[in-house]
Amino acid sequence: MRKQIAAANWKMNLTLEQGEALLNDLLAIPHTLTENQEVVFGIPFPYLTSIKTKLAGKTNIYVAAQNCSNKRSGAYTGETSVEMLKSIGVDYVIIGHSERREYFNETNAMLAEKVNLCFEYGLKPIFCCGEALEIREAGTQNSFVENQLIESLFHLSAEQLTGFVIAYEPIWAIGTGKTATSEQAQEMHAHIRAVLTTKYGSAIANSISILYGGSVKAANAKEIFGQPDVDGGLVGGASLIAEEFAAIINSLK
Ligand code: PGA
Repeated sequence: MRKQIAAANWKMNLTLEQGEALLNDLLAIPHTLTENQEVVFGIPFPYLTSIKTKLAGKTNIYVAAQNCSNKRSGAYTGETSVEMLKSIGVDYVIIGHSERREYFNETNAMLAEKVNLCFEYGLKPIFCCGEALEIREAGTQNSFVENQLIESLFHLSAEQLTGFVIAYEPIWAIGTGKTATSEQAQEMHAHIRAVLTTKYGSAIANSISILYGGSVKAANAKEIFGQPDVDGGLVGGASLIAEEFAAIINSLK
């Protein structure tokens, strides 16, 4: 069975003290993770080491960086390389979040360079895709998302893609309180899986976890995660509230 994942995306929120308090509160709430369920905390770079240490020994709980450089190393002031993340024991990295694409001009080609480095250094990408409102309104969301996958992932071999996680995040649903319906999520997730099947075959396509992101909260997680091709969520706002995120974890299949 594919992994079911509740991934928190703290974005640029919380001081270290606030983040640690949130984790303490969250870990104090009873939650059980089965063998195929994981929790991932996508946290700001400065906290990765201390929070990784804090989570040491916890089964199926991991940390993710929210970004990485598309350059290997060198004179790129302010950037963080995949190799650096690997050297401090980071497990996952969120790649191509729509906020990075929109505010920092990240292109599909740059994201392809990032996923190559992730594969090389053994870091697992949570690769984000998803369309803007105009594209959804024009009805071209399927080909738009397909193109994002083709341009950033499809140069990889099936072996290289194994272990990657995909997050479908319709931009119109991020931070807006406007969640995609569970039917809209299922439709796109099934489309993504069909596109993966065409390129890599059904065994690989069925092994890849596809998370939904965009205003996931305790009140809607169970219904969205209950869809056959939805394997959990990438959660922004609601991951900053311990009770909310605990309920989201407990909504995993
Ligand atoms: P949201 O953010 O849950 O606040 O909509 C999701 C995301 O951007 O990953």
